[in-house]
Amino acid sequence: MHIPVLLKKSIKALKIQKNGIYIDGTFGAGGHSKFILKKINDYGKLYSIDRDPESIKIAKKIKDKRFTIIHGLFSNIYKYCKKYKIIKKVNGIILDLGMSSMQLNNNKRGFSFKKNGPLDMRMNQKNGIPVSEWLLHVKEKEIAKILKKYGEEKYYKRIAFHIFRKIKRKPILKTCELSKIISKITPRKNKKSSVRTFQALRIKTNNELNELKDFLKNVMKILAPKGRLCIISFHSLEDRIIKKFMFQNSRKIPNLPKNIPLTTKELEKLHERKCKLKVFKKIFSTKEEILQNPRCRSAILRIAELK
Ligand SMILES: C[S@@+](CC[C@H](N)C(=O)[O-])C[C@H]1O[C@@H](n2cnc3c(N)ncnc32)[C@H](O)[C@@H]1O
Repeated sequence: MHIPVLLKKSIKALKIQKNGIYIDGTFGAGGHSKFILKKINDYGKLYSIDRDPESIKIAKKIKDKRFTIIHGLFSNIYKYCKKYKIIKKVNGIILDLGMSSMQLNNNKRGFSFKKNGPLDMRMNQKNGIPVSEWLLHVKEKEIAKILKKYGEEKYYKRIAFHIFRKIKRKPILKTCELSKIISKITPRKNKKSSVRTFQALRIKTNNELNELKDFLKNVMKILAPKGRLCIISFHSLEDRIIKKFMFQNSRKIPNLPKNIPLTTKELEKLHERKCKLKVFKKIFSTKEEILQNPRCRSAILRIAELK
């Protein structure tokens, strides 16, 4: 089963009000959701979202009138809040990005280079196309671009060249076929290229960074005053987006082109418009937490509060 990351710290950061309205945008196995349910009273509400039908199955087992599960994307959060009439009423939102252990450990989902299975990687297998099919339709340059952009992989050109060469002869249908190609052409004992290549293909397949950006575009429209936003991310690409969003919306003095004459009043107005969030110190896992759950290693929790 999935061990939730930074569970206590993230729930504490949500500063739960007993009768508040909360959203867990990444239900997974329900670790964070179940903890929120423990903290709210009969007047509180929790809406949880997940794109993976397997998570929805788990969520449906929770019989609790305070709880609603939504099968969909967290980028659609505004639409869901409109449906449930909770716009500007949400007291806290949590996102715990990345994959659940159920996704990673199930070889039929194709997320892990260590487990042989179909090269799929879709978080919802009813939407989009598996990685194996995508690879059949793309050019070598496009593969290289994805590996560089989403995997920050040093050997992106070399890996793309060999994947493309192999595909010209025969499709790559299995995870182990792909990891074999990577391990043959990258320095020995270095599993990092496989990790990075799989990460890049997963991010591309699930449109993960755009999901996060679209979510952030909407989040301030739905939070109640003093509402909290807590996001746990696992790699620098995600963290950079969250950090930039929080920085831009908490900045006291906006970036203005030099030499533009503005009155104090105009400056104050700009200041008000920009400074919407109060941002707190980022939180990492402790050594003990990492020992218990290695997935915590790269986790960063960022917290902000709507002013
Ligand atoms: C790390 S797991 C969450 C684990 C959960 N916090 C727990 O403790 O059990 C991430 C979950 O987010 C889901 N997910 C990822 N991107 C999503 C998106 N854009 N919209 C909705 N769900 C998403 C995945 O399907 C996965 O189940």
